[in-house]
Amino acid sequence: MNISIIAGGAGFIGANLCERLLAEGRTVVVIDNLLRGSRDYLNRGLVASGATASQLIFIEADLAKRNSTEDAFAKANSFGIVDEVWHLAANSDIPAGVADADVDLKDTFLTTSEILRCMKTYKIGALYFASSSAIYGDLGDQPLHENIGPLLPISNYGAMKLASEALISAATESYLDCACLFRFPNVVGVPATHGVILDFIRKLNVDNNNLDVLGDGSQRKAYLHVSDLVEAMLLVRSHPEASKVFPINIGPVDEGVYVRWIAEQVVKRISPAAIIRFGLGNRGWVGDVPKFHYSTAKIQSLGWKPQLGSERAVLRAIDEIASQEGF
Ligand SMILES: NC(=O)c1ccc[n+]([C@@H]2O[C@H](COP(=O)([O-])OP(=O)(O)OC[C@H]3O[C@@H](n4cnc5c(N)ncnc54)[C@H](O)[C@@H]3O)[C@@H](O)[C@H]2O)c1
Repeated sequence: MNISIIAGGAGFIGANLCERLLAEGRTVVVIDNLLRGSRDYLNRGLVASGATASQLIFIEADLAKRNSTEDAFAKANSFGIVDEVWHLAANSDIPAGVADADVDLKDTFLTTSEILRCMKTYKIGALYFASSSAIYGDLGDQPLHENIGPLLPISNYGAMKLASEALISAATESYLDCACLFRFPNVVGVPATHGVILDFIRKLNVDNNNLDVLGDGSQRKAYLHVSDLVEAMLLVRSHPEASKVFPINIGPVDEGVYVRWIAEQVVKRISPAAIIRFGLGNRGWVGDVPKFHYSTAKIQSLGWKPQLGSERAVLRAIDEIASQEGF
């Protein structure tokens, strides 16, 4: 029996990935401290995948702590041969990590070093890592392709993702057979645990007359629907080029959409009479990259193309998240 571990698998992207791996017929061990994730998300995915209940094992553990990570990996290995780890555990609140650097040190970086330690112990050769466009920092209009540099992140979150990439790269020199470093853009869909659309909808739920936007709305970002993201990761995983350390951007092929436009679309769907009140400056928070020009040439060269561009991904996610929130 081949087993996949998904670290942080009870969260937004993890739950979608879990459903897809179960549908492939794999046994999946999800390890999560339930800081943001939920077992309900996993149970829904189990039903949707058509898998049997015994294919999904959940272990609650803090992966930033050595003892609990070792215990979780020992338990996972007692079920059969673990041949891959998907590492998605991280802090997903960038402003929280700017306010307190320990947040990203712990949940974004220490999770990586503890997971790597256990992969070495149990001789698990393949690591698929959820990295981020935040590792590039603010490079303005420069096209962000995988070998651009120097990489100077502007948030602790980006810094700890980049440090994680570096540690994983070093591990491929000794005990890892392959490590895909998936650099995600903004990912949207359900079950939403965070992000701009959920934030806007929840604000309108509290005050349906006004929507306060962080920044002046001129931030332009690339958005990918989670269904496209999961398919992209699975395609890269099956590709022979993805050997040793393999950094790869995943994103739409367009330039993205403006936050102002997203606010307008959410208002139209949730509370059409609401007034949108913009803040000052083109950054929503310290560490926010106002715009970036993401190059997806590498993943396109592997034959991948998303089903939805930024605009359609956002519109679909607005509907999905509105339903999730009871609208
Ligand atoms: N959603 C996006 O737009 C986006 C963009 C770029 C990168 N990413 C990365 O993708 C991954 C998944 O993101 P997501 O949007 O699903 O976020 P999420 O917050 O929904 O999922 C992260 C999961 O990790 C768990 N977790 C956090 N710290 C942990 C710890 N110490 N031990 C065990 N579990 C822990 C949380 O409980 C949660 O279930 C993250 O690594 C994130 O940094 C996401």
